[in-house]
Parts: sequence; C-alpha cells; structure tokens
Amino acid sequence: MIRKLPTLDFQSVSRIFSGGVYALKEVSFSIPAGGLTAVIGPSGCGKTTLLRIAAGLERATTGSVKLIGPDGAAYARASENLSVCFQDARLLPWRNVTDNVALPLELAGVSRNERIARANQVIAAAGLSSAQARLPAQLSGGMRMRVALARTLVTSPDVLLLDEPCSAVDEFTRMQLDEEIFRVWQVSGATTMLITHSVSEAVWLADQIIVMNMGSIHEIRKVALPRNARDRTSAAFLLEVETVMRSLACAAGVVVA
Ligand SMILES: Nc1ncnc2c1ncn2[C@@H]1O[C@H](COP(=O)(O)OP(=O)(O)O)[C@@H](O)[C@H]1O
Ligand SMILES: [Mg+2]
Repeated sequence: MIRKLPTLDFQSVSRIFSGGVYALKEVSFSIPAGGLTAVIGPSGCGKTTLLRIAAGLERATTGSVKLIGPDGAAYARASENLSVCFQDARLLPWRNVTDNVALPLELAGVSRNERIARANQVIAAAGLSSAQARLPAQLSGGMRMRVALARTLVTSPDVLLLDEPCSAVDEFTRMQLDEEIFRVWQVSGATTMLITHSVSEAVWLADQIIVMNMGSIHEIRKVALPRNARDRTSAAFLLEVETVMRSLACAAGVVVA
C-alpha cells in the first residue's frame, strides 16, 4: 500500500493569550508532504505555540492548521497519525527504555506483546538495544533524547512535530542527534516540523526554513543544498548558514557586519 502523507498547512494562524499577548499573527505556510521544515527565531517569537496548535494541544484564536491529503481534502488530526517530541525528553523515570518507548502504543490500547515487539524494533533501529532495560536516570542526556525520538516513531506517524530536541545537549551530542533526527525523518517518511534555535542544524536538516520574529514570519526560505553536499564545513553549507543567519539577525533587529 502506498502511504498517503499529508501536507501540513498553516492558514492565517493567530493566537492571542489572555492579557492581550499576541503570540502569533496571521502565520501562513505549508510543509509539503514528507518534507522537513525548520522553524527558527528568537525566544518568545511563538514557535512552541505554533507547534502546540499543530499538535492540537493549544487552540488558534483565529485561523487553522490542516492536514491535507494527496487528493486535496483536509482530514482529521488524530493521535495515531501525529507524534510530538518536546525539548526535554519527558520520559517516565520509573519505566525502563522499552516501556517508555511503548507508552504511546499502551495509550492506544495495543496489546502488551505487540507493543513490546514494536518498541524493541525502533529501539534496535536507534542502536539502543543494549540500553533497553535501563531507567532514564541511567542514561546520558543525548541518549534520553534518542529514546524520546524512538518513542515518536513507535506509532508510525504521518506527521512529526519536534520542539528543540537538541537544545539541552552539547554541540557534539547535537551533531549526533541531528543524524538521529535525519534517520528518524527518513525512516518515518513523515511530514516534519523541527523547531530549533540553531541555524546550522536548520540548514543541515531542513529543505525549508521559516524565519520568525515576534509572532510573524520574516522569511520562508527553500534550502537548495543537495543532501550529499551537507558537509558542515563545505563552502556551500557555510554560505547558506551565513544567509539564514543574516535573515534571522535582520528579523530580530540585530546589527551584523
Ligand atoms: N499559556 C500562555 N499564556 C500566556 N502567554 C503565553 C503562553 N504561552 C506562551 N505565551 C507567550 O507567547 C509568546 C510566544 O511563546 P512561545 O510560543 O513559547 O515562544 P518560543 O517557543 O518561540 O520561545 C511569548 O511571549 C510567551 O510568553
Ligand atoms: Mg519554545
């Protein structure tokens, strides 16, 4: 069966919090089916609010986020076709790796044998088999995030929403996690939104970058670098990073030389 991946379509999304805080103002863009879009912008510019609205955890004041199928028809968002990974791994401390990864299946009512089998499959693919009996406290920060990423895959989602999954780790671990995010995206084939504050992470992973500031989109940029040219030290990669950096600085009103 050919999988019908959705386009994730943000249509004029605004969110005003009580007290009149305008977190989002008329944000419109699309993440093409199976694409990976990075959303980047200064703290407080509305990235998490946007992701929470896409996940159905927060409502838009006006506008909407729709999943559009290949036939052009909008279809319902459901927990079984959408996975979220937050910036802290949010593992249950009393559960081992397998039982943490299996949790979404447990919530969906899948039998114990099947959910353990499926959890162990994604754990093995993530290279975490030797850690499957460990508790979160017995893992490094990078490993905890890899477990959280494996957990997003266990339900075979059509849409992946990742909120700064690498923000709490050092630069070296971030590069390893980027490889894992890339693998997760490829394996799942899912339409993916990645929030990050790292320009180089955005350029390395994404085919489209949304630069935001103060609740609005400053620039929507296609990343034209071919996958096999994403050497982080190549001239083409560094030029793209510089261009996005300038866009971000301009959006945030920071002067660059
Ligand atoms: N539940 C809330 N109630 C009131 N204001 C909020 C709430 N959540 C977020 N905000 C405000 O909305 C703005 C955007 O926040 P957020 O989406 O978390 O930004 P980011 O993820 O880009 O750092 C900020 O000014 C933040 O203080
Ligand atoms: Mg945030």
